[in-house]
Amino acid sequence: MIDLRVIADASWPSAIADEWARRLERDPALRMCLPTGSTPVPVYEDMSERGGFADTTIFLLDEFGLPSGDPGRCDAMLERDLLSRLPERPAQVEMLDPQAKDLQAECRRFDQAIADGGLGLSLLGFGRNGHLGMNEPGSDVDSPTRVVNLAQETIEGLRRYGADTTTTWGMTIGLGPLLASSEIWLLVSGERKATILDRALNGPVSPSVPASLLRTCDRVTVWADESAASHLR
Ligand code: PGA
Repeated sequence: MIDLRVIADASWPSAIADEWARRLERDPALRMCLPTGSTPVPVYEDMSERGGFADTTIFLLDEFGLPSGDPGRCDAMLERDLLSRLPERPAQVEMLDPQAKDLQAECRRFDQAIADGGLGLSLLGFGRNGHLGMNEPGSDVDSPTRVVNLAQETIEGLRRYGADTTTTWGMTIGLGPLLASSEIWLLVSGERKATILDRALNGPVSPSVPASLLRTCDRVTVWADESAASHLR
């Protein structure tokens, strides 16, 4: 069941941050999956003034197969947009390492770390092709954390993130562990996501639009600003 909340564009970040801050007050040791990219930036900005992360564990949703230090990497974005601004750093931050010698073992390590306690709250953005993390269209509903080939528009997105180089692959928490989160919040803003939001919420439930698979889960909240909700049937 999806709880759809449509919020005026200007108050979208603070509405999410208000609820998130309340959630952290109730559960200070929350285990969370967090995304990067442009969508969460204003929410992170608002949250960084509030703090509340000192006892949390954070799993970074995905990572590009880029050299360490590239500003387009998800670890660099999380550091820049959230972690470096917090008054106190989270107790634990887990990230996938695309430089690991054995990438399969790295993915298994991550799934094990998630399984040891589960994910209490997963924040997700989504792409204009409906991907969740780097689970591109066609991903299995029970896919594990793994190395993936990126869709062309995901590769093009790297430029928006200020990457120095490019890549055709990444690593992502799989749909299996993600959809097993106790609670999921999908963050959607801007008119450029309006068509895919309508397909995700009102089109067929299908791996061809991974975000539509959220409709098979309990406790999903979609936080859409009015621009993103403007094409909803
Ligand atoms: P964006 O990307 O937040 O930068 O739009 C989200 C995504 O592609 O998953």
